[in-house]
Amino acid sequence: MKYLKLIRARRSVRTFDGRPLTDEHLEKLRAFVRTINNPYDIPVEFFFLDKAANGLSSPVISGETMYAAAKVKAVPHSEEAFGYAFEQMILYARYLGIGTTLIGGTMNREAFETAVLRESDERMYLVTPLGYPADKMSLKETAMRAAIRADKRKPFDELFFENDFSAPLETDDEAIREALEAVRLAPSAVNKQPWRIVKCGNAFHFYEVHSKGYASEQTGDMQKIDMGIALAHFMMMTDCAFSVSDPGIPVSDDTEYIATVTVGA
Ligand SMILES: Cc1cc2nc3c(=O)[nH]c(=O)nc-3n(C[C@H](O)[C@H](O)[C@H](O)COP(=O)(O)O)c2cc1C
Repeated sequence: MKYLKLIRARRSVRTFDGRPLTDEHLEKLRAFVRTINNPYDIPVEFFFLDKAANGLSSPVISGETMYAAAKVKAVPHSEEAFGYAFEQMILYARYLGIGTTLIGGTMNREAFETAVLRESDERMYLVTPLGYPADKMSLKETAMRAAIRADKRKPFDELFFENDFSAPLETDDEAIREALEAVRLAPSAVNKQPWRIVKCGNAFHFYEVHSKGYASEQTGDMQKIDMGIALAHFMMMTDCAFSVSDPGIPVSDDTEYIATVTVGA
């Protein structure tokens, strides 16, 4: 399946049918996560955890029997690297027909951390249930999707700009439009969509617009995890080079430069 088709097909699945993953699917996921990398070259280690054996749960998920989690050292850019890596697994799972939900908040965190973390400088930013979607969403899931408007995304002209933040980006380049669409459709914490991109020639500068209340020592800056996911979507869709070098474009106080992706480099 093409990446954009896969990105369009993914949604958070919070109601599962109770079947455990097949051995074949679990083996494929285990093999796939060993191939995952990220442009920050920060190691991200994945874990597959039985729900019952580890006492894991999430108040928003039902019918799941297993979770995946990952850990990373708490170094600069660890959130972006984590988001970038984790999203690759999420999309591969969708490709196999496995349902997932990125979960940074609504879980019994202590049980997950006990299963995964060993050193004080390690962080587990996200987990996801793994299973097969039930035919019908639970009432709780339907209500939650409506409350956070999970099926909606901001329009193109609120997200993508040219040269600075004053003019929306206009381009007829189909490959670029599709890469930007892949960013636009990305999942984000509480569907806040904090990503903005300023195009300068072939360089696409990624920025994070901070909302209050999405960062703590333990959870990291969840919106930087969102940024990692957005970078993964864009970079899957393009031949590109990655760098972190602030171009100095004026930004408002709530906006932070994250990284630059240069297309065709
Ligand atoms: C960093 C991050 C953290 C998230 N944390 C949670 C969470 O704690 N609980 C939850 O139910 N969904 C969580 N989500 C899922 C988002 O709510 C969801 O992706 C968004 O509403 C868009 O819906 P969709 O995934 O169906 O496209 C998280 C997503 C991201 C990217």
